[in-house]
Amino acid sequence: MSPEREQLPPRQREYEDPDERVRPLPKILGAVIVGMFAWGAWYLAGSTPELDATLGDGRTAAGFAVAPAGAVSGAQVYVGKCAGCHQANGAGVAGVFPPLAASPWVTGSEARLVQILLHGIQGPIDVLGATYNGLMPAWKSLSDDEIAAVATYVRESFGNSAPAVTTATVAAERQRTAGMTTPWSGGAALDTIQ
Ligand code: HEC
Repeated sequence: MSPEREQLPPRQREYEDPDERVRPLPKILGAVIVGMFAWGAWYLAGSTPELDATLGDGRTAAGFAVAPAGAVSGAQVYVGKCAGCHQANGAGVAGVFPPLAASPWVTGSEARLVQILLHGIQGPIDVLGATYNGLMPAWKSLSDDEIAAVATYVRESFGNSAPAVTTATVAAERQRTAGMTTPWSGGAALDTIQ
């Protein structure tokens, strides 16, 4: 100890406690961090975007495809006018919007399906064992082509497999009920359609 320091009162004469200034990162931790970055980079580089529509809400790029000028796409009409209620996968919403998948109203009589689309429904209707009592809007503002296209689309989608509906059928059905101004009053009324 230097002579000057020895002159100091005991408390000031003490040296500071030693203090470790640099604390290097343990090598193993450094290796783990570098390893995680490397794994992340490898994972991002190697992953492909998930294109399987069954993992989402069932919509695929086809549903949004723009139809060639002049042609009407049933898928496009469906996405624009129906999917909001009946859902993109045609499963509906339990208790509120009935399913179109496997529904006999869809795959049965073409005339009846076209009449549902032209005038809508307000009143109880039984669909696959459940009763719905909501409001199905009328779509008579759509053209015969559009109604035929969307009717055909729902008959061929969601696992359904029924013959296409022609524009001529829609035109004939529109003519047949031209004077009708209120929706069909439910399943019982629809059952009378031949
Ligand atoms: C605002 C919601 C809404 C929209 C939009 C809508 N629907 Fe409906 N739809 C309903 C409801 C509600 C019912 C049941 C009516 C009832 O309970 O009286 C129904 C019933 C039906 C039915 C008969 C029952 C069944 O499930 O098979 C068909 C077929 C149908 N809709 C097809 C369509 C198609 C095709 C479109 C598009 C052009 C469409 N709907 C648009 C609400 C909607």
